[in-house]
Amino acid sequence: MNYRTLFRTLVAGTLAFALCGAALAQETVKIGMILPLTGPFASTGRQVEANAKLYMAQHGATVAGKKIELIVKDDAGVPDNTKRIAQELLVNDKVAFLAGFGLTPLALATAPLATEAKVPMVVMAAATSVITERSPYIVRTGFTLPQVTVGIADWAAKNGIKKVVTLVSDFGPGIDAEAAFKVRFTAAGGQVVEEVRVPLRNPDFAPFLQRVRDAKPDAVFVFVPSGVGAIFMKQFTERGLDKSGIRLIGTGDVTDDDILNDMGDVALGVVTSFHYSAAHNSAVNKAYVSDYKKANPTMRPNFMGVGGYDGMQLIYKALEATKGSTNGDALIAAMKGMAWESPRGPVTIDPQTRETIQNVYIRKVERTGGELYNVEFETIPAVKDPTKVAK
Ligand code: PHB
Repeated sequence: MNYRTLFRTLVAGTLAFALCGAALAQETVKIGMILPLTGPFASTGRQVEANAKLYMAQHGATVAGKKIELIVKDDAGVPDNTKRIAQELLVNDKVAFLAGFGLTPLALATAPLATEAKVPMVVMAAATSVITERSPYIVRTGFTLPQVTVGIADWAAKNGIKKVVTLVSDFGPGIDAEAAFKVRFTAAGGQVVEEVRVPLRNPDFAPFLQRVRDAKPDAVFVFVPSGVGAIFMKQFTERGLDKSGIRLIGTGDVTDDDILNDMGDVALGVVTSFHYSAAHNSAVNKAYVSDYKKANPTMRPNFMGVGGYDGMQLIYKALEATKGSTNGDALIAAMKGMAWESPRGPVTIDPQTRETIQNVYIRKVERTGGELYNVEFETIPAVKDPTKVAK
């Protein structure tokens, strides 16, 4: 080899090395997050987005040597939008993850695309049980309605409540809650005397609350989606149900931390079962709430937000486990069985169902430090979705 050839080889080698290094440094993993940021369910979108950004601010935007880019899109809560946006994110942006999903119909509309593209779809908010069965690429970091309903059914039966009317929003999660409550409460010796379903969009609760009143139950079990609890509570008071002797119980969606403070005294004493309260007493939660409030001074984190925070946490942990590989099958395999301490308490991704196994707490609304909170007073550890346990 003469000097000239040696020189050329060295230059070529150096150049190739430099180009390769630049390509590595530029490699970006994109997360396509689709949320209702406008429309009646915008509070869910705001919570999940704020939490995803908080997680990234706390943990940096690099994982396993890859740069993380979060792309947030608004579907306004309309399933056709969600599906179209997901398609664009997959084809044009080549996202490695789909994430978000503020309502059940939005998650269901997108599930076939995740399967087709073999891309993990992290459902952070929507909570109808069936969602994870619609694609092997779906993992859920929120909760399911049956999972959080059985706790209050048991509590009611043990606390002198014998006759209940259920009142739910008429769509997937409401129907799940209605069924799970009835099965569990009846098995414990209680009686569901009437099942009332209220339209999801623009609900007027007045005629339905009148039916509750007329049935004279010991309690009304309520599921309304996040953001709707304040309207429900207002009409509950206006119809005089707060003074009727009928107790209000439910899943924690109705006493959502995001809007609980605006509800006033009518919410005091309402008992619910749920997986997250901003008042959860742990060091992890206290640090989380404090960081969240610093970043979002006018907001309080709610359960939707925590689903978003842990969803980002799961994505980061999965990428670490695959050493930055974005192969969908490898990422899903890494997510199965993953466990960590969330602001809500310990969580595990069930390797069989890809659902979050988590504590469910019985809570009562109390005023502490001038603010209304869901104060946890009983813990049911490591709860799975009861409709999936027997399968
Ligand atoms: C859902 O659409 O799955 C959903 C929405 C709001 C909730 C719970 C579930 O609070």
